[in-house]
Amino acid sequence: MMRACIFIVMTLSCWSLWANDPLGDNAGEALFQQKCAACHTVGEGNRVGPDLLDVAKKRQGDWLVRWIAQPDQMLAEKDPIAMDLLKQFNQIPMPNLGVTEAEAKSLIQYITKVSETAAAKSQTDPAATAGSPSSSLQSWWGTTQFAAFVLFIAISLVIAFVFWRVAVSTRQPMATIDMKSAYALRKKLFIGSTVVVLGTLGATLPFTPYSDEIRVPDQLVYVAAKQFGFVYSSEPITSDEDFGRVPAINSLQIPVGALVEFRVTSLDVTHGFAIYGPDGSVVAQTQAMPGYINRLRLRFPAPGNYNVLCLEYCGLAHHLMRTTFVVQ
Ligand code: CUA
Repeated sequence: MMRACIFIVMTLSCWSLWANDPLGDNAGEALFQQKCAACHTVGEGNRVGPDLLDVAKKRQGDWLVRWIAQPDQMLAEKDPIAMDLLKQFNQIPMPNLGVTEAEAKSLIQYITKVSETAAAKSQTDPAATAGSPSSSLQSWWGTTQFAAFVLFIAISLVIAFVFWRVAVSTRQPMATIDMKSAYALRKKLFIGSTVVVLGTLGATLPFTPYSDEIRVPDQLVYVAAKQFGFVYSSEPITSDEDFGRVPAINSLQIPVGALVEFRVTSLDVTHGFAIYGPDGSVVAQTQAMPGYINRLRLRFPAPGNYNVLCLEYCGLAHHLMRTTFVVQ
């Protein structure tokens, strides 16, 4: 009964915090997913950056707001806490993600809310915090790693067998080759493959998309990639100054069947910009390269949620670099 009461009180206090969000409902959570989740967790451990559990209790309010909004400036000023964090986290600086002070406050409220929910959960559910090492050992059987290990052994055995067979076969006398029939076979293969290549070329050439190039696209979307996230905008973002100045499109929507042109660039290292359809298959991809703008023209005949994932290993949080858009 006592636990239930604590839980209800905690939940209600979370709601009241939620209601106080200066940017409205869910703004903090959406921002967190968009700008922070690639490098930070709340209570799930350090990633590229520190775990943010109870960060509002650990740091002073004004310092935290400024750090979220202008980390680059604080690093330039050699703020002692900022320099300490830089050292602790492998010299990977917290990037300026163009977060305003109001947004920073909204983020802090969201993080506080999640921290409190986690605290309430660990009070009511002590099992959640007590991991058992023996159970993790037992569960090794049947994991992906185990399957990969078995596959590795199987492939190794096949390779060893082939080597053994080849080694044994060299001990037998070499068969004599009929050169005349060998040349005849070569001629047939040459003519056959030429017919296949030219035929495929003739059949597919009319479908090349170059004729679409003359058209003005129905929608133009600028994409800037930066460790470890993507930003959509309606004006180009080609520098860190633009990043703070140009308004980002937070929820991108594309009409079904419209000709869309993505203009993709990167502000740091090379990233990939790969679009995955609602069924999880790759629709198209281009590179996001610093100093270049790569154009990707597409039509989306099927409505749904499309995911965008980075397809180029770009650093520690590469696997977390993703965004999304809706075709409707
Ligand atoms: Cu960006 Cu991988």
